[in-house]
This record gives sequence, C-alpha cells and structure tokens, in this order.
Amino acid sequence: MASRVIPVEAFDLVIFGGTGDLARRKILPGLYRRFRDGQIPPEARIVGAARTEIDDAGFRALVEAALKEFLPARLCERESVEAFLGILGYVPIDAKGEAGWPELKARMREGVVQAFYFSVGPSLFGALAERLHRHEIAGEGARIVVEKPFGHNLETARALNATLAEHFDEHQIYRIDHYLGKETVQNLMAVRFANMLFEPLWKNQYVDHVQITVAETVGVGGRGAYYDQAGAMRDMVQNHLMQLLCLIAMEPPARFEPDAVRDEKLKVIRALEPVAPGDIVRGQYRAAGGMASYRDDVENPESLTESFVAMKVKVANWRWNGTPFYLRTGKRMKARLSEIIVRFKEPPHSIFEEDTGHRANELRIRLQPNEGMDLTVTIKEPGPGGMRLVDVPLDMTFAEALGAEAADAPDAYERLIMDVIRGNQTLFMRGDEVEAAWAWTDPIIAAWEKREDAPLPYECGSTGPEEAAILLHRDGRRWGDLTP
Ligand code: BG6
Repeated sequence: MASRVIPVEAFDLVIFGGTGDLARRKILPGLYRRFRDGQIPPEARIVGAARTEIDDAGFRALVEAALKEFLPARLCERESVEAFLGILGYVPIDAKGEAGWPELKARMREGVVQAFYFSVGPSLFGALAERLHRHEIAGEGARIVVEKPFGHNLETARALNATLAEHFDEHQIYRIDHYLGKETVQNLMAVRFANMLFEPLWKNQYVDHVQITVAETVGVGGRGAYYDQAGAMRDMVQNHLMQLLCLIAMEPPARFEPDAVRDEKLKVIRALEPVAPGDIVRGQYRAAGGMASYRDDVENPESLTESFVAMKVKVANWRWNGTPFYLRTGKRMKARLSEIIVRFKEPPHSIFEEDTGHRANELRIRLQPNEGMDLTVTIKEPGPGGMRLVDVPLDMTFAEALGAEAADAPDAYERLIMDVIRGNQTLFMRGDEVEAAWAWTDPIIAAWEKREDAPLPYECGSTGPEEAAILLHRDGRRWGDLTP
C-alpha cells in the first residue's frame, strides 16, 4: 500500500526547552522523521529556545547527536540529516527575564504558521505566554502547545487555564496527551464509527464490561522527584486512561471535528460516578529480580505514593449503566502492554448441550506492542467427535495486515505536532475536559491523603497486588493476561 504524505504548509516552530530531555528524545527526532518523509517542507524553520548559552551550530550538533541516539541508523542518512539541520536555529532565552526575546522576535517570519511548543515545567507557562504576547512575537493565528502535567489538581489546572487564557484563545491552545496520538487510539474511532458491525452492540445490553490496561516494565528512575508528588493516579489515570475511557464510552459525535468530539468526551467524564474506596486498589512496587523498590527509586523511604492503580469505574448514563469499566496501570509490571478489552455478554441460551465453556466474544484493542485488534469468535472445532466449540481470534495486527508501512507509521508525537501545524485540535484536550477530569480524580486522591492510605506492596515484575485480581474476581471476572 503506497503511503500518502501530504506536506504541511511552511511554519515557524519554536521549542521552548529545546535542549531538554523530551525535545531530544521525542520532539526533534519526530520532526526529523516527518521532514525525511517529505511532510515538513524545506521552507519550515524550527528554533530551539532555552537557557543554555549555545548558538545555531551548537544546537545543530546537539540535535544531530540526539537523532543518532534515538533513531535507528537506517533513518539517519547523511543527506537527510544535513538538510534537516539546515532548518534549525537557536536562541538562548531567559523565560522569566528579558534576555533573548527581541532576538526571538527577529527570527519569526510573517505569513507562515507560527507554533510555540512549551516543553518546560508548568511553572513557566505563564511567563512564556506573557512574553510572547508582550513582545508581539505570537501573531493572530499562533498556536501554543503545552505538555502534561496540566496542573496538580482542579485548582491548579484552573489557574493554568486562566493564565493561558489571558494571552491566547482556546482555539490556539493545544494540550497534548500523547495517548491520543497513538495509531490504535485513532483506529478505535475508525472501528467504532466507520463500521456497522460494532456500534449497535456498543452498549450495556451487549457489553459485559470493558478493561483498560496500561502496564509498564519501567520504574520511575530519573523522574522520582516529579513522580513521587504525582503517583499513578495523576500521572496516568487522570489523563491517558481517562482519555481512552472517553473514546470507548462516548456517544457518536456528529462529525469528526474538534468540538464535536470533545463535547462527547466531556459528557462521559461528567457522567462518571465517584469511586467507592472499596473499588480501588493502590500498589507500590517493592524490590525483586534485581530491581530496586519504589521507595529506593524515589529516595523517599516513607513514600505513600502509588505506582499502581486498579479501579472499577461506573459511567452513569443510559448507554453504560450496569457495564463497569475496569482500569489498571502500573510501573515495574510483568510486561509492557497497553490494551483495551471489550468483553461482550454470553449468548442468552446455548443450543449446544455438550459445550460447558463460557462463550463470549472479546474485542481486544492493543495499543502497544504489536498494535492491532483481534476479536475472538466461537466456532466448531474441526474434525469428528461431535459439536465441540473453540474460541479463535480474528486477528488484525496492523503491521501484518497493512505491510511494513504500518510498523513505520509516525509515532504519537509526530502525528500530534503535524496536527498543530494543520490547526486541527481534535486530538488535543480542551480546558474544560482537563478540569472535569481533575474534578473526578481530586476527591479520590484527597480521600487517600486524609486516611494516609498506604499502597499495597507488589513485586517488581508481577501483575500488581493480589487485591487487583480480587477486584474482578468478586464480580465473576478476570483481567486479561499480561502477555504481549
Ligand atoms: C507519560 C507518563 O505521560 O506516559 C510516564 O508520565 C509514562 O510515566 C508514559 O511512562 C507512558 O507512555 P508510553 O507511550 O510509553 O506508553
């Protein structure tokens, strides 16, 4: 299948925090790949802006090293790398002072799309927005891109929204949740809304329950100071898992357009019931298999922060009443696996007397690894010996079905940055969505803090605390295996 790369128009993109970890690991390698594919035109300009006192040449050397470190050698042909370095520039800047701003202004062109990526801590968002405005650097159609964490709770998220709103309109603000840029996440919408097969069954009458798992093998190494203040609930559930839940649970939007989609997602968040303490399991990893404990990783021997959460969530509306959503996420787990399972109900009556198994179709949507979907269906086991039934998967691993291109598809950041340039906010969170998500998570976290709730220990390399399994057992259900 031939890929269709449609170039975006010329742009000026400024990356504040351009020498930082995220820029080196994700943003700049991603931009390079889009450039190499011909999606970014040679007329584009990318300007790094950070405190580090280097010049254009110094920044280019830093980016070249990052490309070599984070991309496979086969993508780094000399010619492409050199051409890409040619569109880069750098301005040393003092985010909270005045140095560098006139120089940055001098770099900006008229008549091209302007985007400003705030790849810095949220404490600098206000200072950057104010200076972009005051120095008249950001023109009418300029866009700003902000990273999570978007606030620490409802109050701080509101304050951040208010600060940004002083200088930019909502249609100029792109709040990134990189899960929304993942190929399969978008495919989820295609599967739901471009087929006749699933949508009629997508409701409590036919769906027994939904599971959303984001399991990681990594620990919190290197990010301990941030993570210990956040925990899995703030770091993963409030954003990534809730976004996935919204896409599964939302009503069909009238159009695939930013506000139509985001209105529907917001309704889901507002329909979430408060979660009872007995419906949540918190965990914290302890040393095993040569891996250090969470408390050692964050250098806080008394930490009560969770590195694992499993919970039962109820969406109180006509479509989902009675169909629970089970969410779980954790670090240092047995496998790296993100998937959504939509488990359908068993047929109301079995005409096959010999069959004693429980038969229910299951749609598994794998975000990573091996992006794809499979649907288990029950068929007759081939051969003689009567009517024996067996469950088999109808497998659709994208890399197999669509060829190598799917495996080399743009990653989440690349796709989302191109959406910023195109001016498409569909896959970005609106301010009211973020606030509604905090309004739901805040009381859960506040209750833990009030009780000084201690997370349950689980071993590194396991599936989390036993109690997470019990959460489902007690409802006569079980989690999907953590086998990628
Ligand atoms: C980030 C979290 O948003 O997502 C990290 O802050 C987490 O803690 C990461 O590891 C997971 O992203 P991915 O794309 O590797 O699943």
